Amino acid sequence: MTEESDFNLETDSAGTQRVIIRQPDDWHVHLRDGEMLKAVADFTARQFSRAIVMPNLAAPVTTMDAATAYRERILAAVSSEHRFQPLMTCYLTDSISPDEVEQGFSSGIFTACKLYPANATTNSSHGVTDIKNIYPVLRAMERIKMPLLVHGEVTDSEIDIFDREAVFIDRILQHVVTDFPELKIVFEHITTADAVQFVDNAPDNIAATITPHHLEFSRNAMFEGGIRPHYYCLPVVKRETHRLALRKAATSGSSKFFLGTDSAPHVVETKETSCGCAGLFNAPFAMESYAKTFDEEGALDKLEAFASENGPRFYELPLNEKRIILEKSEVEVPEIISAENSGVVPFHAGRKLGWTFAGFHND
Ligand code: DOR
Ligand code: ZN
Repeated sequence: MTEESDFNLETDSAGTQRVIIRQPDDWHVHLRDGEMLKAVADFTARQFSRAIVMPNLAAPVTTMDAATAYRERILAAVSSEHRFQPLMTCYLTDSISPDEVEQGFSSGIFTACKLYPANATTNSSHGVTDIKNIYPVLRAMERIKMPLLVHGEVTDSEIDIFDREAVFIDRILQHVVTDFPELKIVFEHITTADAVQFVDNAPDNIAATITPHHLEFSRNAMFEGGIRPHYYCLPVVKRETHRLALRKAATSGSSKFFLGTDSAPHVVETKETSCGCAGLFNAPFAMESYAKTFDEEGALDKLEAFASENGPRFYELPLNEKRIILEKSEVEVPEIISAENSGVVPFHAGRKLGWTFAGFHND
């Protein structure tokens, strides 16, 4: 097979449309730990070859030892039929040492570092309180070409929650890009037209991931007929104009945008409560959801670049050789999926999707 995109839309003898693409990777996922890890890991591993695993465990992954042990737990949780490769990340704190980060990267333990502004989201209380505190680490990362993955929201409670991403660009991100012109940055799970424009106008070392849910619904969905906790995530979904900008970016063919589900499972009791957790569990039907969006946009020919090519090229990793089949046939999403003696409500729960992940293609 060539390195070129070999988009392949076929119709089988029964008249069903199929798209065959290189196996995708998930460049942003929360696999959790313990019983939750065991319950969710295979959903990611059955569709994706590799995944960038977020380090925001209750005890954040800040050392090579912690990442090595976590990786082992992930591999033990995944069924042996999947040849899944977790790519580990290092959680940046105010006091993290540049040596730990550099050694972790050069030894292949860490693939990237994750910047959580302190208290921006789930398990981020150990995050960075002032970007200047990690400037020595960023200097080292720039030198060794280690990607920085950014949760791009300011945490100032005075700033309207719907503006926190745009304000982060002005106050923090644009300065980091100027101060570290060679630093590879992934602006994670972007949610606004402002972020799309920023990434589009930035040099090639700046890219972004886009989730299936930010492509699928706008903030109205959180309030349709009542408060809908399963549509709540961070950064929070924005108004419709932003969703349309994200759909345009994802399906544009630009190599700066790639797949990152941000699948973030929480048991139902911690979502349906007076102060619910942020996060959508989209891993079980991730490729089905992206295929739906790309089909609606008439851009199925751009799905492979977004899902399977732009990410590895940015991370300077080889493209996957296996191919997957996406079939235009209905699949029903369950209301709930068992986990931790309870359940997690998946994205699209109780609905039918028009695309199905139909396994691997044998050439
Ligand atoms: O909605 C979210 N959930 N956003 C994040 O940034 C973190 C994630 C989680 O870990 O639950
Ligand atoms: Zn995340």
